[in-house]
Amino acid sequence: AVFQRFGQKELLFKILVIGDYGVGKTAIVRRYTEGKFSSNYKITIGADFAIKNLDWDSQTKIKLQLWDIAGHERFGYMTRVYYKYAVAAALVFDISRVATFQSVKKWLGDLREKVTLPDGSKIPIVLLANKCDINQAAVPNEQIIKFCKENDIGSWFVTSAKENLNIDEAMHYLVGNVLKSK
Ligand code: GTP
Ligand code: MG
Repeated sequence: AVFQRFGQKELLFKILVIGDYGVGKTAIVRRYTEGKFSSNYKITIGADFAIKNLDWDSQTKIKLQLWDIAGHERFGYMTRVYYKYAVAAALVFDISRVATFQSVKKWLGDLREKVTLPDGSKIPIVLLANKCDINQAAVPNEQIIKFCKENDIGSWFVTSAKENLNIDEAMHYLVGNVLKSK
């Protein structure tokens, strides 16, 4: 049993979860790490973080440190501190509120300006169109696709923290990209 551990890798990845207030960042992190959802809105102050342990494959264990940044922090001075050493980011908007999609551009700008990998390259980003269960898609798919193309965002997912839709898939995609970029 001892020898089976030989050659195993244990990696630690810091992943940011950013986007406007109320889009569901905390709900996504909670769904992903605890398997729970609450419809009460409790605003995040500053930043929270949560851990998710993944058995990626027989050789690789990954500890994800998810940093859930308060939506109002884009107007604050702390983002640079929170972003430090991040290797990937999930950029979240609320598909039923157009304004939160417009903000994605600003969040992305802030992120690209402040975070790069040690070799100077861009960190992988996934875009999450959350609250798809509401069935009131105010942002057309074509706009999202165009935005991703223009801004070098590898992929996007329609998600629901409430219905547990595509959260695991999106995070799996993001972690896969971190591994590729190493
Ligand atoms: P800040 O901490 O202020 O930045 O907001 P946040 O992005 O963390 O939002 P939060 O996760 O607290 O969710 C805001 C509200 O939206 C809460 O009432 C959640 O229950 C609700 N919510 C989050 N995700 C979903 C979802 O997928 N579907 C629905 N219907 N509601 C959701
Ligand atoms: Mg929050």
